Amino acid sequence: MGGVVLQGVFKMFGGTAVVEDLNLEVGDGEFMVLLGPSGCGKTTTLRMIAGLETATSGQIIIDGRVANDVHPSHRDIAMVFQNYALYPHMTVRQNLGYALRRSGAEKQAVATAVGEVAASLGLAPLLDRKPSQLSGGQRQRVALGRAVIRRPKVFLMDEPLSNLDAKLRVEMRNELVRLQSRLGTTTIYVTHDQVEAMTMGHRVAVMHGGRLEQVGSPLDLFERPVNQFVAGFMGHPAMNMFQGSVARHASGRRFVGGGVEVPLLESDCHDGEFVLGIRPQYLRATRYSEGAVPPPDAIARARVDFVEHLGTESFGVLTVEDRTVVAKVEVADGIGSGDPVWLCGGRERAQLFELSTGARVVGGGASRAGAAAVAVAAGAASGAGAASGAPAASGAPAASGAGAASGAGAP
Ligand SMILES: Nc1ncnc2c1ncn2[C@@H]1O[C@H](COP(=O)(O)OP(=O)(O)O)[C@@H](O)[C@H]1O
Ligand SMILES: [Mg+2]
Repeated sequence: MGGVVLQGVFKMFGGTAVVEDLNLEVGDGEFMVLLGPSGCGKTTTLRMIAGLETATSGQIIIDGRVANDVHPSHRDIAMVFQNYALYPHMTVRQNLGYALRRSGAEKQAVATAVGEVAASLGLAPLLDRKPSQLSGGQRQRVALGRAVIRRPKVFLMDEPLSNLDAKLRVEMRNELVRLQSRLGTTTIYVTHDQVEAMTMGHRVAVMHGGRLEQVGSPLDLFERPVNQFVAGFMGHPAMNMFQGSVARHASGRRFVGGGVEVPLLESDCHDGEFVLGIRPQYLRATRYSEGAVPPPDAIARARVDFVEHLGTESFGVLTVEDRTVVAKVEVADGIGSGDPVWLCGGRERAQLFELSTGARVVGGGASRAGAAAVAVAAGAASGAGAASGAPAASGAPAASGAGAASGAGAP
């Protein structure tokens, strides 16, 4: 077993940096998810760790040893790909045993190892089939088995579940988590799917445009994102963002913009231009009736475009002025398309982002414990911005800030 450390890693293709100053520590036995939109550099990062791509600069340390110049076959790493990469002419048994046979293991030892892995992954009845005679889920299991059988120091997985249908993906997700925790093998798992990241990772590293935005536990990223990008990327439905200004009014400090008006705690922030983010889960739409008194926590009038029923909860897709806002609706309220509603709530859980940098500042109206944690994250994020001269969305300092924030964490 062993951890993986990336120190100031860059990858240039032509004149373009596709991975920029990446600093990341993956602990021994940790399940780390690399999460980010397509093209942000996840696969390139994984390939550099595997040795299939050389880092332009920076250090890649595997199990305490600088591995930049170590041949891929000597890094003691097993990689699992999206497309399975099985040998089509070999049976499941031969596919599973291939790496061990090649490394010169005894025939009997290979057979025993294949038997064990096949049993643990439910592949025993399929050992004599060829990949073309397997379903997608079974193929993916063979690909996993091929990685597991080598007992490597590190698993690298590149979107290994994305070719499976939704139900199977959830099953395999759980199986993989169980397998990883049983084996205790350091794992770096790449995905663009934030639900996968939230449910699988001990920690999640969010990448964007070749840079690391934030590293933290799933809950950290959700509750204490360092910037607007992370806030918007994590969570479904996505966080509502309103652009506007904070100023002191007769009734206290308020955010006004994007069709909403939200009272803030006095101490929360200074006057200026901001983006206010509120997750749909913290907003609700309630029935509007002509002449009735608005609810005390109303922040806007809105109209319902349609209601999405997700089973356990329902969300209204609303229009506020000319913008779309998503908020919870109670099915019992019987709210439907075309209905006028009040948009309510959000104040307690609103988050404010600097308009110029996207860095999060103290959340508008956040509870005291929450506000303390937020202040730490915001400080780290703006420090990162100042140090690199780039938008605050940058690497290591913000990442460690996230760690600090979790220490100060709310509940
Ligand atoms: N061999 C290559 N030559 C040039 N550009 C590449 C090469 N491989 C990847 N890229 C570019 O690097 C960026 C990151 O790619 P990749 O790591 O595959 O992203 P992700 O896995 O996050 O979708 C993309 O813009 C991609 O086009
Ligand atoms: Mg990729």
